[in-house]
Parts: sequence; C-alpha cells; structure tokens
Amino acid sequence: MTNATNTQKSKPMDMDKLVSLAKRRGFLFQSSEIYGGQNGFWDYGPLGVELKRNIKNAWWQDMVSAHDDLSTLSGAPAPFQMTGIDSTIILHPQVWKASGHYDLFHDFMVDCRQSKKRYRYDQIVGRYVSYNEQTVFITTESSAAAEAEIEEKALQFFKLKSKHREKITYEGGIVNLTTIAQKENIVAPHAKEAGTLTEPREFNLMFKTTVGALSGEEGTAFLRPETAQGIFINFKNVVDSSRVRVPFGIAQIGKSFRNEITPRNFTFRSREFEQMEIEFFCHPDQSADWYAFWRQRRFAWYQRLGLSQERLIMREHEADELSHYSTGTADIEYAFPFLPEGEYGELEGIAHRGDFDLRSHMEGKLDPNSNPLEVEKGEDGKPRHRGSGKDLTYRDEVTNEKFLPHVIEPSAGADRATLAFLCEAYDEDTQPDEKGKPQTRTVMRFHPRIAPIKAAIFPLVKKDGMPEIAKELYRTLKKKMNVFYDEKGAVGRRYRRQDEAGTPYCITIDGQTLTDQTVTIRDRDTLEQYRIKIDNCAAEITGKIEG
Ligand code: GAP
Repeated sequence: MTNATNTQKSKPMDMDKLVSLAKRRGFLFQSSEIYGGQNGFWDYGPLGVELKRNIKNAWWQDMVSAHDDLSTLSGAPAPFQMTGIDSTIILHPQVWKASGHYDLFHDFMVDCRQSKKRYRYDQIVGRYVSYNEQTVFITTESSAAAEAEIEEKALQFFKLKSKHREKITYEGGIVNLTTIAQKENIVAPHAKEAGTLTEPREFNLMFKTTVGALSGEEGTAFLRPETAQGIFINFKNVVDSSRVRVPFGIAQIGKSFRNEITPRNFTFRSREFEQMEIEFFCHPDQSADWYAFWRQRRFAWYQRLGLSQERLIMREHEADELSHYSTGTADIEYAFPFLPEGEYGELEGIAHRGDFDLRSHMEGKLDPNSNPLEVEKGEDGKPRHRGSGKDLTYRDEVTNEKFLPHVIEPSAGADRATLAFLCEAYDEDTQPDEKGKPQTRTVMRFHPRIAPIKAAIFPLVKKDGMPEIAKELYRTLKKKMNVFYDEKGAVGRRYRRQDEAGTPYCITIDGQTLTDQTVTIRDRDTLEQYRIKIDNCAAEITGKIEG
C-alpha cells in the first residue's frame, strides 16, 4: 500500500455496506462459513462468480484471443503476437529454487507473548505517546482507522477516562514499526503492557505439500505462489510448437497460493487467489519501449472497464524497491475505501524483468541424485547450479540472431480487480417510489461488459399472456448472455432488486406489447425508459454490452 497526496477520492463509500451487500446478494461468502470460516479464503456466490468470470474473460479477450497479431497497436514499437497456456499448480520443486521463491519469498512476522496473536512486522503502525513522564510506542494494525485506534489504546494504556484525553501528548505522526530504531516500550496491537513482541522472524509464504506416497523431503512440493513460473518453464515448448516470433507474449490465468501471515481487507489479501499474468518476450534493445507500452496499456484497460481516473494511479517503484535484475517496475493502484485517506492498494504490477527468469531456469543442473532443494554453494557461499541446465536462448529465424529475450511482466490479480470493480460500482441515490415518495436506492454501477446479469425480463403482470411472451424472450436472450426472469412483486421492487445486482437493463413486457410487439427497456444508470420491437432486443442489448 502506498501514499499519495495529490489525488482526491471522488466517492467515499462505507465498506461495511459493501461487505453486507456482497453476502446478502451472493457476490462473496466467507469460505467454510458453516464451520466457523477459514481466514484468508473466500467463495464467490452466484453473482460473484459471474462478475469475476466476466473480468477474467474481458482480460483474456482483450489481451489474447481478440489480439490482432498483424497491426501495430497505438504506442507499441511493433506488431506482436499473443498466446496462452494453462500450466499446473504444482511444479517441480526446483522451479522455486531457480526462481528464488524457495530462498527469498518470505515476510517477517512477530508474535505477541501476551495476546498470542501473530502479525506481519511491516503491517504494525504506531506512534510515540506520553503521559505523566512515561513514553511508549502504541501500535495497531495498519488500517483506515489507525489514528483513532491508537488514541483509544492510549487512554486504556494510561487508564484515563476520555474526558482526560487532552492530557496525553503525541510525538510525530503514525509510522510503520519497521522504521523506528528504538524497539523498547512498544505496546503491541492487542497487548495491555509494553515489551511483549518477539523479534521478527522470516516466514516463507509458499504452502508446502507432499507428492505421492513418499514422506520426508523427497516428496516435498509447493502450491505455486504465482502463475508466472509455469510460463517461463514452458517458453521453449511454446516457441517450438506455435511458430511465435519475438516479440510475443504468453498469458495465463490461474490460482495462486500464499500463506499470508495476516490476510485482510476482504479479498484484498487472501491465501488462495487468482492471477492474470503475461510474460512478454522481446529483444533486449527494445525492452524499454515495450515496458512503456505495457504500463500504459494495462492502465487504460482498468479505466475502460469503469475504474475512475480519480481513484486509480500508476506508481513507479523507487530505485531501492526494485529487484536487482529489474530496470523498472510500476504498480497500478486503486484507492480502496478500506485504506486510509491518500493510500492506494496494488491491483497490478508491471515489471521489466530483464533476462533474469530465463537465465535462472537455464543455469546448470544439479546432480540428479541430490535433493533438488539443496543447492551446491560456490566459493563465495552463493548458490550455484540452480536451473534446468537446458538452453533457453532464442534464435530468430529471419535474422538468425541468437539471444536471451528480455521479459516485461504485467501481473494482475483477478480477485483484487473484482474487489476494485465492486467498490467502484457501489452507489446510493434517491429515487421516488411508485407513490412518489423518495427512497434510497442501492445500485451497483458495473460496466455492462462485466455485469453479472446483462438484462432482467419482467412481465408487468402475471396475466394476459404477458408471462408467456416474457419467458419466450428470456429463452431467446439466454442463449446469448446471462439474463434473469422475474415476475414476483411490484415492478418497482423488481427494478430495485436488479439495481443491487448491477443489472444494466430491465426489459418489461406490458399491455402495449400485446398490440404492437414493443417492450420497454429501462437503463439502470440514467433511468431512461424507451420502447423497441421485441425482435430487436437481442441486438440492442448485445450492442450496448459490447459498445
Ligand atoms: N509474478 C509476479 C507477481 O506475482 P505480485 O505483485 O506478487 O507479482 C501480482 O502479484 C498480483 O497478484 C498483485 O498485483 C495482486 O493483484 C495479486 N496478489 C498478490 N498477492 C495477493 C493476495 N495475497 N491476495 C490477492 N491477490 C494477490
């Protein structure tokens, strides 16, 4: 999460209301809820699964299946090809050694000896607080409410009533625990005394499992923490099998797993999630231009599907944030409503990875009889011989040049994108009901392309042949898109149910339909109603979704 001061949020919203709507209307459920829930795991309900699938489909269509290999896209240095793969979740364990995840993919955690709670070290924030000549560093977990929480904790810690809050003095602003030098007198987020936190310890985020009947280290494998490595290790297979030529990209959508120490903020940080990743292979001389192209292209994608310009930023990593092999990385970040004012959460990273990944997988092979996770060390103590030992260099069939391509990696999270679109869509407005009385309406303003239900079909009343006509229209449209039939209750109530589901169009069959075969189409956002011929409904709605 990062801070930015120059961007205004256009629409503050209440996260609790969204969480409650998500459950009530079947977007998201806590996993294993009837057993008390499983922290960091989420299930998508009937509306949620459609929304997330539409987002993944839009990504796949825009990046892969509808990509025009022959034209030069605006801002691109040249035409390029796009293709896809679907690799396994469990890969050879040595993949993770070569990629660096086995040795380096960890967070620091601390335990509180008093509350027995565990925290990610960098997610504890706090402030120096003094009263009666005693100074302590009072902490809480980073959140939008951190400042208020620290003030409340300070009152409790010094055993003061709230009317005495002005007797407490504060020094400096809220800072991350990792940034303070003095580690004594820290009051942990759920502790009553100071000094109960352990020293930070490394914690590898990969989930371990055992393959086959072997027990012990020989059978050890890992659930992938990213889909990217499945692409790198198939680079040669794709080149040899599909006549692609550099520059080209390989895309993959799939589950990834990270044993996050503190999953939080709804689905934002989950332990099981889906990624949408592209590894784009290009000539080293052109990689800077391709990096610039992909940054702009991915940013524009989120805007096109409805994320507002005021809540979306592109953040270039500082030099000290970059991996040693990367010459540039930028994050596309969104002002999620659960973050403090001015903070943004990562939706997608676009990294210039140089030739690091292909080179790592190309390095010399281990002794086949040794444990793949134990790596020989060189004289300098650094690991040697980590990769497959296979030649992954690329030979251009036209120029005959042989080189190791550079990689640009746009890596997005499908669940984070879904959460951002849910937050962006949530809105409330006031509309008159059937009797003209003002009513608050909750409306999910999804872009029609990602809306779970594209249109709802209502007979105005359950008689005069209207349900029959409505059902026939429903069956016709259902073959082309996800539509919903509803004949229960007053039509105004039916509209409101669809507004909450984010359905962009409602089609009503009424008395006039019986005479002139027209229906009304009501637009969720403008509330405009207009009539068209029933036979034109499919083309009308399809045009609106695609347009
Ligand atoms: N291959 C590069 C890579 O995995 P990353 O920044 O660690 O990079 C890419 O992850 C994207 O995956 C993030 O921008 C985010 O959208 C998503 N992601 C990462 N960890 C996640 C988590 N614990 N829960 C949900 N989404 C996550």
